[in-house]
Amino acid sequence: MHVRTTSPAPCRSGDDTVTEAILLVGGKGTRLRPLTVHTPKPMVPAAGVPFLTHQLARAKAAGVERVVLATSYLAEVFEPYFGDGSSLGLSLEYVTERDPLGTGGALGNVASRLRSGPDDPVLVFNGDILTGLDIRALVATHTSSGADVSLHLTRVEDPRAFGLVPTDADGRVTAFLEKPQTPEEIVTDQINAGAYVFRRSVIDAIPLGRPVSVERETFPGLLAAGAHLQGMVDSTYWLDLGTPQAFVRGSADLVLGRAPSPAVPGRCGDRLILPTASVAADAKLTSGTVIGASAVIGAGARISGSAVLDGAVVEAGAVVSDSLIGAGARIGARTVVSGAVVGDGAVVGADNELRSGVRVWCGAVLPAGAVRFSSDL
Ligand code: GTP
Repeated sequence: MHVRTTSPAPCRSGDDTVTEAILLVGGKGTRLRPLTVHTPKPMVPAAGVPFLTHQLARAKAAGVERVVLATSYLAEVFEPYFGDGSSLGLSLEYVTERDPLGTGGALGNVASRLRSGPDDPVLVFNGDILTGLDIRALVATHTSSGADVSLHLTRVEDPRAFGLVPTDADGRVTAFLEKPQTPEEIVTDQINAGAYVFRRSVIDAIPLGRPVSVERETFPGLLAAGAHLQGMVDSTYWLDLGTPQAFVRGSADLVLGRAPSPAVPGRCGDRLILPTASVAADAKLTSGTVIGASAVIGAGARISGSAVLDGAVVEAGAVVSDSLIGAGARIGARTVVSGAVVGDGAVVGADNELRSGVRVWCGAVLPAGAVRFSSDL
């Protein structure tokens, strides 16, 4: 374990306040490749800033003063960007796992760095969740119910892809169920939304030195041991940014104000153009599109619901929708990119057509006219 500390200061917490948080930011983000080849998922820009900025800003707005970042994959990039956290009004500490310890192991690994008292609440967030969750309400639920752990639960239309978390009439969690295989197994539409309040002593009890999954081991184990796990259903905005499609949507929703964040660096109507970007006068940017620093958008280009990252170039007449164009990538003239991801530094020549689900790897080069879409196939 590699630990960096900032100067110690006691943490305090009132009844419904939480002053300390752990953010889990060490995952490999495999579903988001190639965006996560050079950049860990929480550092991929959403609405103009690394996604993690939005979570930190929301934690701060809810009263959090100190955040421990549990890092592993590409751990070295977090501290140079966020430093001691003072620019966000927070105190940040970085703890790096030499080998990934999983979501529960990562919590146990940072337990000794917490300053809260044994019974104090500690906020825990997955580093890839975009949500309008009322954090103070989750803390209030935790305090008033006297729970060991309180979980934000959200309702989804199709729960088949998720583990289910049924609760009783008082909101107490009754089970953690694996992804349902049959209609009979869908006993609830409530799922774990990836934000929790832990009693600090519960984090202290997580086994050290081996991988632990908080979802598959810690929570079911606590329930079996008779611990009190409280669910709070909050059906506000919620999106798991684990896939490229979700990430692009989340970025656009931040720009459009559908997803709340104090950290969106200013928008103009339904688009966000960072100050050093260059956009042709007749280019059309809509539906939450963000244009990163030093990016260049050519004449007549049309871009909707997309994120064009720093230094990328979209040439004249290109049409980009619901897509993510990586840092320094180039989209050739008249090329169509729809529902696709172009990795950092990739070059897509003129007159190509990239459609849903296509992922162009970082640094790849597609010659002009190399890819066309045919609905006849
Ligand atoms: P996929 O590989 O695409 O599933 O993404 P992921 O690696 O981020 O995994 P997942 O979405 O299940 O992780 C949920 C949250 O926990 C994310 O914020 C991850 O960064 C974090 N996380 C997952 N595994 C670890 C780990 O071993 N250590 C730490 N510190 N965080 C982790």
